[in-house]
Parts: sequence; C-alpha cells; structure tokens
Amino acid sequence: MTHPDVEKILITEEEIAERCKVLGGLITQDYKDNPPVLVALLKGSVPFLAELMKYIDLDVEIDFMDVTSYTGTESSGDVRILKDTEGSVQGKDILLVEDIVDTGRTLVTVKDLLYSKGARSVAVATLLDKPDRRVVEIHAEYVGFEIPNEFVIGFGLDFNQKFRNLPYVGVLKEDCYKE
Ligand code: IMP
Repeated sequence: MTHPDVEKILITEEEIAERCKVLGGLITQDYKDNPPVLVALLKGSVPFLAELMKYIDLDVEIDFMDVTSYTGTESSGDVRILKDTEGSVQGKDILLVEDIVDTGRTLVTVKDLLYSKGARSVAVATLLDKPDRRVVEIHAEYVGFEIPNEFVIGFGLDFNQKFRNLPYVGVLKEDCYKE
C-alpha cells in the first residue's frame, strides 16, 4: 500500500535491492586489497547501508557520523557535526555511505574533515543523486539512482523525521509541505 502522503513511487524496494547488488559487487572489486571502513551518515543512510553491505564480500568495519544542515525541505547551508566516528580514521580507506547528494555541502564538509583527521582515501556511495541541485562540486563514486529535482522520502529519507521507514523512495505530495 502506498502511503497517502506519497504523490508517486519513484524507486521500488526491488529496484533498490537490485542496484545494491550491483554496487556491492563493484565495491568488492575496487577494495579487494584494502577493505574500507563504511562510515554511514545518520540517520537517512541506515536502510541503504543495511542493504548495500549485504553485497560487499569483504571484511569491512562500519562506523557512523551524524551531521545536520536541514530543516523541513531546505538546506540551511550550515553543516554541523553532531556525532563523530567512534574509531580513528587515521590511515584508513573510508567509504562514506549517504542517502542523497543534494547541494553537496554535507559531503564536502565531511570529506574534508575525514582527510584532516588522516584518512588515506575517502570515497562516496550514495543511494540517490540530485545533480541539478548541486551548489558545491562533489563526485560520488557509487550512485544508486540519479533523480530529478523533487523532494523525496522513504528508504531512510525523511520529511521532518517522518517516512524513513517506507520501503520505497517516493515523491512527497506538495500540499504536505507547502501552505
Ligand atoms: P546536501 O548537503 O544539500 O547535499 O544535503 C544532503 C542531505 O540533505 C541528505 O543527507 C538528506 O538528509 C537531505 N536531503 C536532501 N534532499 C532531500 C530530499 O529530497 N528528501 C529528504 N532529505 C533530503
């Protein structure tokens, strides 16, 4: 059943699983000599991390960071670190796991921070990419799906902390956030 606040389903649960299989295979190949630390950005990337890591056939470690820049449907542009990684990133190959790259500000900030703490490499795996919205330049090595400039929810993505548990990615009805 589609949630009543969802305008349309953009990506189904099955499509996400299929794509994660492909990305997991690529990551396994690319990192076969140096398994990465998967650093997932809370909270939106949790379902993607859970799905993706099933298909990474390496001895990876996982860690989490919590950063924020969003209220409602707009980025404030001011990225704050709420929780840092538990383990040291010194000399490690880091694969950042993110739900969506929008303006790119979050990932640029987090990448810079990890490099400043001595990470050997920092790459990005994102479930979704909205290239039309980019404000700062950032390249994601592993992209699940490119999507148009619409506010999406589900599979980890929220609107004011709701809808993260939907098993698909959908477009939020405009009347849910516009007066
Ligand atoms: P950026 O710093 O602008 O790239 O923002 C990235 C963060 O914004 C993501 O981790 C999401 O939490 C949030 N975000 C951006 N676009 C959407 C969307 O369409 N739906 C829900 N959250 C979004």
